[in-house]
Amino acid sequence: MTDRSSHDTQLRSRAWFDNPDNPDMTALYLERYLNYGLSQDELQSGKPIIGIAQTGSDLSPCNRHHLELAKRVREGIREAGGIAIEFPVHPIQETGKRPTASLDRNLAYLGLVELLYGYPLDGVVLTIGCDKTTPACLMAAATVNIPAIALSVGPMLNGWFRGERTGSGTIVWKAREMMAAGEIDYPGFVKLVASSAPSTGYCNTMGTASTMNSLAEALGMQLPGSAAIPAPYRDRQEISYLTGKRIVDMVHEDLKPTDILTKDAFVNAIRVNSAIGGSTNAPIHLNALARHVGVELSIDDWQTYGEEIPLLVNLQPAGEYLGEDYYHAGGVPAVVNQLMEQGLIAEDALTVNGKTIGENCRGAVIEDTNVIRSYDNPLKPHAGFRVLKGNLFSSAIMKLSVISPTFRKTYLENPEDPMAFEGKAIVFDGPEDYHHRIDDPELAIDEHSVLFMRGAGPIGYPGAAEVVNMRAPNYLIKRGVTELPCIGDGRQSGTSGSPSILNASPEAAAGGGLALLQTGDKVRIDLGRGTADILISEDELETRRKALDAAGGYQYPAHQTPWQEIQRGIVSQLETGMVLEPAVTYQRLAQG
Ligand code: FES
Ligand code: MG
Repeated sequence: MTDRSSHDTQLRSRAWFDNPDNPDMTALYLERYLNYGLSQDELQSGKPIIGIAQTGSDLSPCNRHHLELAKRVREGIREAGGIAIEFPVHPIQETGKRPTASLDRNLAYLGLVELLYGYPLDGVVLTIGCDKTTPACLMAAATVNIPAIALSVGPMLNGWFRGERTGSGTIVWKAREMMAAGEIDYPGFVKLVASSAPSTGYCNTMGTASTMNSLAEALGMQLPGSAAIPAPYRDRQEISYLTGKRIVDMVHEDLKPTDILTKDAFVNAIRVNSAIGGSTNAPIHLNALARHVGVELSIDDWQTYGEEIPLLVNLQPAGEYLGEDYYHAGGVPAVVNQLMEQGLIAEDALTVNGKTIGENCRGAVIEDTNVIRSYDNPLKPHAGFRVLKGNLFSSAIMKLSVISPTFRKTYLENPEDPMAFEGKAIVFDGPEDYHHRIDDPELAIDEHSVLFMRGAGPIGYPGAAEVVNMRAPNYLIKRGVTELPCIGDGRQSGTSGSPSILNASPEAAAGGGLALLQTGDKVRIDLGRGTADILISEDELETRRKALDAAGGYQYPAHQTPWQEIQRGIVSQLETGMVLEPAVTYQRLAQG
């Protein structure tokens, strides 16, 4: 055990509440926090001040249960000898924020950096959940580098409709197809979609929320076994209490994000991401986190470390089950143990409980092999991402684990050239253009068409929209063609099972090759070699490039808000995490 007294004299909150060099300011700080109801004795007793960064609110229903859980977190903090101070984080709700919630990840990040840096906080509990809340909180804690522990709000209970599991998000894609095919009417559509969200909590599928919460645990930033506990379960209350207790000790031990978020931790998370069938948004958020904590992580690392890892977790959209099943089957520790037995986990990576991931997860059993498979009996081999490059973009990723048998049969079983296909490009400029024209017979889309979405990246559609997975036109769906290859410079919802080529960087709006593409161009995608190209001559490409430059570059919609304009001016591409570039230079603020 570390010598507590020696650390306590260095608590950063002393600079506010007990600073002999500045008695005037100390009085001012004390006066206002006394006003809130604390006593001078408490504030000067050497107890760590622990922030609870509250992401729940009426505006963010996925995380709203944190308002309840925070009560148990406070009890844990108090019992361990700390003082809790709860404060709001800029709310983010994935499906309700227009034009896109990811515009707000960096805004919540910036706001939280200011709070953690500028107020008398010795440690913080990060209340994570809905997609962007997790990376926003982790990124801010990494930048400031005070002791931090994440607490997941937990997934919703399983959704059910007529005896079958309906998963949040994922059911929307299916219900849309059913409505387009005339199988259900609009009230039936709404009823089916609503069945997937039966309780408080985040999406019960392996979408971006479940992915990022699992990865926060795999990174070592949450207590072991905590990520998968469903929101309404009693165990969720208990882990909230334990999280509150633990952060106080972390402050005494001076255990900081930089001690936990090492390259080993990121490689562990990449491997876990493949095994759980994690979201295509994970590389964006983890690469962003790595940049803020100062760890070298590239998009190619995702293929290098993750591609060969098999799919072990049978959750929608890649599989059948949902969040409750994942928890009962053993959650993250059971997955980590499977990888660990193959030597695929850096076991010495430290976690928030002060132990290594190896100590935490060794021997964690799979309780239900239908939901979590063993490494030697996986659902699919090679569940990670393939990184593609070519004259269309310098990088884009494809999640191989969601390629359907039909897609494989239609596009990837050419005996002369397996894993490669050519097609006619159909180009849409942003989601509005796509919605407007997808069913237009003039486009003459057929099964040899490849749908392109551009103008949907961090600059083009500020924050990058989840719009790359596009449905086939209704006239094709009625003929039984439901899936067309989709490629774009935007993102895709983690709850979508579509085998799209995503996150293309640089985007059209940043001068990427997609800006030069025209409807009718022939394109060639080779998943085996990892290439994606427009099949036109260098000269023709050059001519188009000059014409584009002369026209002032790729045109995108005007800014609607001040934040859109500010972010567009300083944001990096999806490949490098869509971070605010100037923010990356600010690291370890609390030590600085
Ligand atoms: Fe918030 Fe899925 S929309 S977790
Ligand atoms: Mg999402």
